[in-house]
Parts: sequence; structure tokens; C-alpha cells
Amino acid sequence: MSENIAMQLQSRFGSDNFNFFSGSGDLPAVRISNEFGVAEVMLHGAHVISYQPAGAVPVLWMSGKSMFTEKDPIRGGIPVCWPWFGPDPAGKFGGHGFARLSQWQVVETMHSPAGKSSVVLELTDQDVDAVFAPQPFKLQLTVTLGTALVAALKIFNTGDRELAYSGALHSYFNVADASAIAVEGLDDCSYRDSVLQCDDVQAGPVVIDREIDRIYRNTSGIVRIVDPVFNRVIKVAKSGSTSTVVWNPWIEKSKRMPDFGDEEYHTMVCVEAANAPAAGDSRVLPPGGMAELRQMISIE
Ligand code: BG6
Repeated sequence: MSENIAMQLQSRFGSDNFNFFSGSGDLPAVRISNEFGVAEVMLHGAHVISYQPAGAVPVLWMSGKSMFTEKDPIRGGIPVCWPWFGPDPAGKFGGHGFARLSQWQVVETMHSPAGKSSVVLELTDQDVDAVFAPQPFKLQLTVTLGTALVAALKIFNTGDRELAYSGALHSYFNVADASAIAVEGLDDCSYRDSVLQCDDVQAGPVVIDREIDRIYRNTSGIVRIVDPVFNRVIKVAKSGSTSTVVWNPWIEKSKRMPDFGDEEYHTMVCVEAANAPAAGDSRVLPPGGMAELRQMISIE
């Protein structure tokens, strides 16, 4: 079925740089390619599922156990978590919101004179399963492939009352050996430790030597994932976010997640550009208001 959708999208939005196809689980996707590399985005969740700069090993991680169905979130890449980060504040639904469970629409593809390629996807309250009874809103995710991969989420309040939300660009990064990496840029920052259920202050780089699930407060700077085995640094910059989540499920939690291989924690780390409630970074948009959450990913 998604082959027909992909063909229709190809005739409307396709070009040398944008190839629409039927991806895993028959979910429609677009492959963006240019001199800078290749990235793939699924319409389900506006989910960036891969990013490979030219000549480099993949920068984003994807679980071999990920479900690719319309009712499940994808495990890996860049999930768009919205309009809540973590547990549903209303206590009704699962974690991380409905945006990652919804089918987004393609609005536009663009190729700039400088050689960058962007796709714009959109989700409104009208596209979301009625069970979520969402307030009026519009989201636009622009994914740009240039010297960096940029994911920019614009949030519009299209209703006539305040729109309160939290969220994240929940990026999963591909590393050679998680226990050998250093996550730099969070030194001296206070954080909520969701594993130990306490508050602490970061001393030096974050190392992954156990289950790590931390929400760093007042953090808007660049985070660098130093990978000595792949011999590279993944640079993660952002705007519109003052909370940063670092997550690796380690041994026991990996076993509990059906869509995550028991040994896969060795090769991933999440560094998330968040608007996290636990860090006092929830947002409120007035009627007609707009905000942007952006993450810029590159390698050095
Ligand atoms: C992280 C949270 O952001 O997402 C973790 O800090 C959570 O606690 C992880 O386990 C994955 O969430 P999910 O809903 O995709 O399994």
C-alpha cells in the first residue's frame, strides 16, 4: 500500500535529491541524498531513521528489533517526542507523546544553491488519532542535510487558549563501544538522576558504565560524544532547549524492552535536546504563538 503513497509523493515532491520509497514495515519514507551524505525520514512520526555523512559510518543508531508499525514508536534515529516528554502528565497514555505515533504529511522538499536538501513534514491536531483529543496545534519538522544534519521542530499554537507542552528530539547515536565514550559539555551541570531518583552535579565527562538516565538542567551548549574507537567526535548543538537527556539502558533495562536487543546497549547513547518537565523546561505557548526546538548534528 505504501508503495502507491511513495509513488504519489515521488511525483509531487521527488527529485534527484529526494527519493520516496516504501520502507520497513511498509511505512512510507524519503531518502535525502546529496554531496554531504544520506539521511532517511519516515512519515510515521516524522522520524529520521538514518544519517550517514559521506564517507563516514552511520551517525544515528537504529535497533535491529525496532517495530515498524503504525501503532508503535520506532526505536532509534530521532523520535519526535511531543506534546509530553516522559510519562503522560494526564496519566492516560504512554510515554513521550503522540507525535511519534502519528502519520505526518509532506509539505515541501527544497534543494538550496549551496547544495543543502530539506524536507518539511507537518502534523496538526486533525491528523492525530481522536483518542488523544489534542488541543489545536501545528508541528512542522524540517530536516536539512548539509554539513550537519539539522532537525528543526516548529510548534504553533493554532488554538485560542494557551498550549502547554514538553518534548524532545530524542536522538540515538551510533558509537563503537558505549563504555569507551566520553560525553563532554555537561561538566558542573546539575541533573536529575532518574535511575537513582536523586539530584546530583556532573563532574567531568559523562561515562557510560551502568544504566544512565539523566536530565541535565540549564544546558543549552554543545555536547560532544567522543568515540575513541570510531576515532571521531559527534557534535550535538541545539537551540530552544535548556534540558539535555543522556540515556543508555545498560543490561537489565535492555532485556525488559521488547524492541531493544539484549546486547544493543553497547553501541548506542541518546543525547536528547529536550524541553523536560523534570528540569523546569516545560513550555507554554500563547494563542497564535510559535516556538522552535532544533538540533544540529555533525562529526569532527
Ligand atoms: C528517555 C528516558 O528519554 O527515553 C528514559 O529518559 C526512557 O527513561 C527512554 O526509557 C526511552 O523511552 P521509550 O518510551 O522510547 O521506551
